[in-house]
Amino acid sequence: MNPLSLSLLAAALLAGGPVLADFDPARFIKEKCSGCHDERVYARPDHRMQNLQQLEAQVRRCDANINTRLFDEDIAAVVKYLNDTHYHFDK
Ligand code: HEC
Repeated sequence: MNPLSLSLLAAALLAGGPVLADFDPARFIKEKCSGCHDERVYARPDHRMQNLQQLEAQVRRCDANINTRLFDEDIAAVVKYLNDTHYHFDK
């Protein structure tokens, strides 16, 4: 890769780009995360999550299982969505 295209690539990455901004956690969960469990798993009264750190770790495990390879900011969006809709942990 020549230096010019490298710097263009770097600029595109830094800008964040519309691709990342389009990430929709609700849709992602519906499409990718319902293979093994549906949304009831997040709402069950005896769920195992005790705090945000555990929730994030579980989302990462499940993401790794299905190889969707979310970016960190998308993981954060999924965690926030699940927390807002189901878990309601304090920060
Ligand atoms: C390969 C199967 C599989 C897929 C696909 C999957 N999960 Fe899971 N998930 C599990 C299993 C197994 C558990 C543990 C269930 C249990 O403890 O009974 C779990 C549990 C969870 C929990 C904790 C539920 C609780 O007890 O509060 C969360 C949160 C979660 N998954 C999020 C996700 C997200 C987000 C995705 C999409 C990236 C996803 N999962 C996709 C297998 C999967």
